[in-house]
Amino acid sequence: MLKIKIVGSDSEKIIESSAGISLLEVLRKERVAIYTPCGGKGTCGKCRVKIKDEGEVIACKYFPEKDIEVVLPGEEEANILVHQTEYLEDLPYSYSNYGYLTSSPCGVAIDIGTTTVVIYFLNLLTGQIEKISSFLNPQKLFGADVISRINHCQENEDGLKVLQMSIIDALNFELDAFRVINGLSRENYEKIIIVGNTTMLHLLLGEDPLSIALAPFKPKFTDSQIRNGSSSLLNINGSGEVTTLPCISAFVGADILAGMSAMKVTNRNYLFLDIGTNGEIALIKGDEIFTCATAAGPAFEGANISCGMGAVSGAVSLFSGPGKYQVIGNCYPVGVCGSGIVDIVAYLLDKELIDETGLLKETFFIDPERRVGVVQQDIREIQLAKSAIYSGVKILLNVAGLSFGDIDALYLAGGFGNYISIKSAVQIGLLPNELKGKIYPVGNSAGIGALQYLKSDEFVEKTVSILKNTRYIELSDIDEFTLEFALNMDFTPVRLS
Ligand code: FES
Repeated sequence: MLKIKIVGSDSEKIIESSAGISLLEVLRKERVAIYTPCGGKGTCGKCRVKIKDEGEVIACKYFPEKDIEVVLPGEEEANILVHQTEYLEDLPYSYSNYGYLTSSPCGVAIDIGTTTVVIYFLNLLTGQIEKISSFLNPQKLFGADVISRINHCQENEDGLKVLQMSIIDALNFELDAFRVINGLSRENYEKIIIVGNTTMLHLLLGEDPLSIALAPFKPKFTDSQIRNGSSSLLNINGSGEVTTLPCISAFVGADILAGMSAMKVTNRNYLFLDIGTNGEIALIKGDEIFTCATAAGPAFEGANISCGMGAVSGAVSLFSGPGKYQVIGNCYPVGVCGSGIVDIVAYLLDKELIDETGLLKETFFIDPERRVGVVQQDIREIQLAKSAIYSGVKILLNVAGLSFGDIDALYLAGGFGNYISIKSAVQIGLLPNELKGKIYPVGNSAGIGALQYLKSDEFVEKTVSILKNTRYIELSDIDEFTLEFALNMDFTPVRLS
């Protein structure tokens, strides 16, 4: 047996492992979270850790053959959005006399994001939120995006079970912690509402997600799924009920349905956009809703970017010019996260260091000494991502027979939409310049949607009606999409000030 000492920022432990097992596998077994956007395929080069006396290694390609000491990189700092905003519904509680199973019934609304998870604990007698918990999705160890995780399920016999149990265990940890602190028992958890993208819900329920990734992209289910407590694997009342909201398609999930339903708007025509590794877009035209999903790629997660990294200590998260940048953790920069790269590209465009075609005059270093900067290939990745989103918006407008002039607002859902500079995103063409001044971040609409679903029968009816009026547009079926995508690759000059 080999001895592997794992040293974190405030902990260390020694574990035993056998030869022939990759260091990433060892770390996964120990639930040590390191950044693995490609899911351990050896292609992203991001799962770097330091081995004492050896230097940096790629964990998924390193197979320890002797006792080693591993020094982990900085831990991820997640600024997870959880609260209401002025754009989101807060409906009155409507289930106080429901005929519960116990005298202290507790409801739980859960938003399982690819990156983060938010849990709302609700007193079912009073409708009061007792606690909001959040944590990073532990499945991140198996890849930053849904496709990497689906691949993990396909390539490993126990892959689906491992991914399912990794989220179930994390949820049970939070459920147990809340009930112990509040003197409750697991029997008191009676009603659980869960939203997430289509892949996250498949993984949670232990359903094979492979068909989501393969044409014709038919998930095993899109309908609402209801499980009783005993079959859910969650530490709740065996006769309690676990409900997942319906998904719209393989890539437009229950999180988008919940998010759209949570919007409190009176505008007639507006866009609702959630940017992550996929860009999910909804166009609301009166009572009609058109949705699509574009493969924005993992660039905004820091993957496929030479100095890209997650929002961890050492990542440049804001940039406005040489020497004017913010680093998470207030330390020296070691890389750039999604919001940082959007700012840097916007700056380079403004200073004409990138031309309209995306040609970068020379590699740009934020910190030349530490070689932190952007290279030509990074700009190409950003062009692909921003064109995918913008082209998706254009296609939805065409299908709906609208133009940008008809749109009253664009609402940005989710974490990335909240943390990017809207000005920079408009500058690089990720968000439409045509809607400048009408773009608003709305926070975690999906989580608030799950909470409203738990609280209000009026909201349940609203989601049913929204789902009925929603039409999914498969962009690969639309001939003009390819042309739009090519046309929108270039940068259109927009002055920053
Ligand atoms: S190279 Fe190891 S996770 Fe991507």
